[in-house]
Amino acid sequence: MRWAIALLLVMGFGAGAVAAQESEWSGETVLVTGANRGIGLEFARQLHEAGATVIGTARKPEKAEELKALGVRVVQLDVTDEASVAALVKELDGLSIDVLMNNAGIFLEHGDFESADPAAVMKVYDVNVVGPLRVIQALLPNLRSGERKLIMNMSSGLGSIANNTGGGMVAYRASKAALNMQTHTLAADLAKEDFICIAMSPGWVRTDMGGENANLSPAESVSGMLSTLAPLTAKDSGRYLNHDGTELPW
Ligand SMILES: NC(=O)c1ccc[n+]([C@@H]2O[C@H](COP(=O)([O-])OP(=O)(O)OC[C@H]3O[C@@H](n4cnc5c(N)ncnc54)[C@H](OP(=O)(O)O)[C@@H]3O)[C@@H](O)[C@H]2O)c1
Repeated sequence: MRWAIALLLVMGFGAGAVAAQESEWSGETVLVTGANRGIGLEFARQLHEAGATVIGTARKPEKAEELKALGVRVVQLDVTDEASVAALVKELDGLSIDVLMNNAGIFLEHGDFESADPAAVMKVYDVNVVGPLRVIQALLPNLRSGERKLIMNMSSGLGSIANNTGGGMVAYRASKAALNMQTHTLAADLAKEDFICIAMSPGWVRTDMGGENANLSPAESVSGMLSTLAPLTAKDSGRYLNHDGTELPW
């Protein structure tokens, strides 16, 4: 399928670079967590349009109107809820998944170190760090039988220790730095199986989390991330990449 589309493009039937990029995802089965709004919804939309088979997760599928309207498969998942994760495993038993986009995440607090609420810090860690760990552990059998073996953990530029001169947002920053370490460790652990494990920053994006002053639309951010992810191979595993493909310092 992928090669057929590539051939059509070479023969001049396509619409140039955009269509060529889209063809990279056709035929792939991709699971996106937190796909009911924001960046996750845009991932589901662009991947579906590019010919991927998309499984979008939502905490409340009955309210995920925009996701359902795309015509993709919608499954329930709260990444902090063991029973929900177990139900996901059961529902997807035997299905090969090529790509896992661990997108779900929360922010909660802007404050400085002194004012950070330990209970809120625990909550952020549960969603942003332990959540992806639970989902990866649960879906490894599906990913092992997939072809691409790509795991994208949605990090943030705020997870960079090297770039942190501003302080504040301690729970969120620390959670994404921990997710970065988790991604790097996962890459090492799965290297012998040719997995591609990537920590990625979407940039600053206009979503409920990013706010209206952010410089990127979800469409711009996601199309950049898909272009960045499409050509990666197992040699790239363990990298921390920005949406535009540039390397971020740990
Ligand atoms: N926007 C930015 O500028 C920016 C920058 C850097 C990194 N990021 C990262 O990009 C990812 C997506 O961000 P966004 O801007 O799209 O955020 P968003 O608009 O707030 O959406 C967050 C998504 O995560 C889901 N989610 C939250 N808690 C969950 C849980 N316990 N289980 C499953 N799903 C859960 C939400 O579901 P509900 O609707 O049910 O709450 C929603 O679908 C996050 O990991 C975020 O940290 C965003």
